[in-house]
Amino acid sequence: MQVLAIYAIVVAVLAGDVQGKQQCHPFSCGHLQNISYPFHWRGDPYNCGVPSYELDCSSSEATIRINTGTYYVTSINYTTSTFWVVDASLKDANSSCPLPRSDQLPYVQGGIQGSHGSWDLVLDQQARLASFVNCSQAMRNNSMYIPIDCLSTSSSFVYVFVKMSQMGGYPVIEKLKSCPFIENLKTSCGYLAMIPLGGPYTRFPDNAGFADVIRFMRNGFAVQFPLPGHTWSRIGMIKDCLKGSIR
Ligand SMILES: *[C@@H]1O[C@H](CO)[C@@H](O)[C@H](O)[C@H]1NC(C)=O
Ligand SMILES: *[C@@H]1O[C@H](CO)[C@@H](O)[C@H](O)[C@H]1NC(C)=O
Ligand SMILES: *[C@@H]1O[C@H](CO)[C@@H](O)[C@H](O)[C@H]1NC(C)=O
Ligand SMILES: *[C@@H]1O[C@H](CO)[C@@H](O)[C@H](O)[C@H]1NC(C)=O
Ligand SMILES: *[C@@H]1O[C@H](CO)[C@@H](O)[C@H](O)[C@H]1NC(C)=O
Repeated sequence: MQVLAIYAIVVAVLAGDVQGKQQCHPFSCGHLQNISYPFHWRGDPYNCGVPSYELDCSSSEATIRINTGTYYVTSINYTTSTFWVVDASLKDANSSCPLPRSDQLPYVQGGIQGSHGSWDLVLDQQARLASFVNCSQAMRNNSMYIPIDCLSTSSSFVYVFVKMSQMGGYPVIEKLKSCPFIENLKTSCGYLAMIPLGGPYTRFPDNAGFADVIRFMRNGFAVQFPLPGHTWSRIGMIKDCLKGSIR
């Protein structure tokens, strides 16, 4: 039975692959040229590309939706099967003191469960997650928390901490049991927002300041092409994990 099930998944993934490649013509979108599978245009025939990888080319830049957010696609690398995106709301606001939107959680699930049992839009394994928190007490002597003076007041202290996402690559159920993205939230702190940073070969400085974080935020993060998938769902577990941690 198991062998049959795996065989069925492999065939389904391969079939999706072939259909996508056959029916899509390479296209241009914004400054990107010769775009092909898994990306497709909104108007493209059904089964062209992978549904989650739909590009909007109506403005001068290519954009893609990931969960609740809109992102500019800045580059695509078909050799590494990854592409880079930048949060559109951050880029458009061009604030000198940017705070990501709190309702934009692209990677709470690590990826989006696509058709054919694949995982779509999975965060690159080497990306980091920057978590913004708002604390009622100053966090002295904790180098993990980078203070954000421009968002803090005399009675509220805003910090960002950056760590390996542990969410990229193949979703591994074990990794998620510990709520990796918020495990260190102090009781005097509330969750504000979260944003992925970087990708392959990004070196994040050990003693980074908020200026470094801003630089990485503007540079965006790397996302993977569809990964042939596992059929189980971890979404329920993540929801439980968040419920316990965000008040
Ligand atoms: C477009 O991409 C395909 C494969 O990705 C490549 O074979 C072809 O040479 C490219 N064409 C141009 C004009 O860059
Ligand atoms: C894709 O990534 C590989 C490996 O990092 C790199 O050698 C290559 O130059 C990249 N290609 C493009 C078009 O950026
Ligand atoms: C963004 O702001 C910087 C200064 O903070 C300015 O130099 C730059 O021109 C602005 N870019 C856009 C697109 O508005
Ligand atoms: C942080 O929390 C305080 C108290 O609730 C609030 O006044 C302040 O606006 C919050 N700061 C941010 C950046 O959300
Ligand atoms: C900071 O932490 C170190 C070790 O954890 C400790 O030795 C030092 O006394 C602390 N400093 C302050 C100001 O709390």
